[in-house]
Amino acid sequence: MAPIDSTALIARAEAISKEFEYGADDVRKGVKEFLRLMDVGLQNDGEAMTMIPTYVTSVPNGTEKGVYLAVDLGGTNFRVCSVYLTGDSKFTLTQSKAAIPKLMMTSDSHTLFSFLAQQVKEFVDEHHGDHFAETADHHLQLGFTFSFPVDQRAVNKGYLIRWTKGFDIADAIGKDVCELLQKEIDALGIPVTVAALVNDTVGTLMARSYTSPGKTGTLLGAIFGTGTNGAYVEKLSKISKMTKPDSGVGEYDKSTGEMVVNTEWGSFDNAMQVLPDTLYDRQLDKNSVNPGIQMFEKRISGMFLGEILRNAILGLQKDVGLFSAATIEETAALNTPWSVDTSVLSYIEADDSEDLATAKSVLEEQLGVSAAHVSTEEARAVKILVHAIGKRSARLSAVPVAAILIATGKVKPSASLDDAAETKEELDVIDIGVDGSVVEFYPGFEKYLREALREVPEIGSDNEKRVRMGVAKDGSGVGAALIALVAAKMAGIPAAFAADEL
Ligand code: BGC
Repeated sequence: MAPIDSTALIARAEAISKEFEYGADDVRKGVKEFLRLMDVGLQNDGEAMTMIPTYVTSVPNGTEKGVYLAVDLGGTNFRVCSVYLTGDSKFTLTQSKAAIPKLMMTSDSHTLFSFLAQQVKEFVDEHHGDHFAETADHHLQLGFTFSFPVDQRAVNKGYLIRWTKGFDIADAIGKDVCELLQKEIDALGIPVTVAALVNDTVGTLMARSYTSPGKTGTLLGAIFGTGTNGAYVEKLSKISKMTKPDSGVGEYDKSTGEMVVNTEWGSFDNAMQVLPDTLYDRQLDKNSVNPGIQMFEKRISGMFLGEILRNAILGLQKDVGLFSAATIEETAALNTPWSVDTSVLSYIEADDSEDLATAKSVLEEQLGVSAAHVSTEEARAVKILVHAIGKRSARLSAVPVAAILIATGKVKPSASLDDAAETKEELDVIDIGVDGSVVEFYPGFEKYLREALREVPEIGSDNEKRVRMGVAKDGSGVGAALIALVAAKMAGIPAAFAADEL
């Protein structure tokens, strides 16, 4: 077989990478459209970018105390944990984790929820058995982190709107997921009450606010992981859909004048007015379980970046004979839809060596392309694609962050920042809690996101510097526990057992 023409290969890889460029103008257009769709979603029910009122009307300040259970369903694993909030911005957490069997993601709701309840039972038996032997009438309060779009009607009630991230269980749509879980928990006879329903972004926001209380509290909790989404603190007066007659809104505390809104920004611009689109994105969407939905998420998050890369590599193979000297089995990951993990991109992006040795071994181990027959130029071509896909994801992620900073009035005009600098007045930081494998592990993700933030005129570099972004570790567990605490307090239920009893 003729050796591959390296110049043509790199030229083609670069041409493909250009298709993934998301420039400053694109960011600005994106922000404008995001601001428009935020308003549409705050005013009307049933919009694609749903802007879900969460019934959480304040963020913690770090003094909260008690022990709560939390479970987390939202991606590839199901986690059960108990969280001991010690009231000094700290916590300890015990947890167990079980992979969700793939088949269960597309089964029926009884199969899935009875599996979840079983995990809760095993956890409670193992970690809280003694306690409940003594006080069997006292229920542990549980926060249920359920990271899919729900029509939330109370802090512990929410009807599933649609599945995302590869889940597809038709009979659960329209049902109250707290009730589905409670029913299966009751069937097993465990003393646990599902007290709060929490999206992972809301959990992240709460956990970050608990662990890093500042003058102003945390503004935004954002996930860039298997999926992507964000929740932020909004003025009640702007959530006008809650005051429409017959809106079916439940009771909530109006005293703070605020409520956390779960944006469900994964479905930003499903209409494809401003989002970038390549052949490889279109191939992915066509082969997904939800074509035309979660179009923003499909360009950003971990469930999808590997598949975009796989499509782009197959494109290079077809166009210029990439890997023509290598042996690739029919069943190799490269030939199997949805089997390239996003960690592949992180490893390849991180490989700055001359001979791209890590990239080659990742190609062998994770994609099934025999490394012995992969040239450095071929690995370089793949790295060009990886970089383009990852950078676009990070720059796109700046769009909702910028829009939320603008919409909530957090950014200040540059001139007032100059005045403040002259008077040495300390400017408030804008605190953002983040979580997820992409933001945590993709090299340069935050750097590229910040670069794009600076390109938005209302933000610029002065405001961008005020943004403090930090990973809220175990955010969904701690956040769910915090919301369970608030819900239990509202219902007059004391903490399941006081911290000093532990
Ligand atoms: C879901 C969100 C979730 C996000 C991150 C999306 O697919 O729709 O509810 O917050 O993933 O897990």
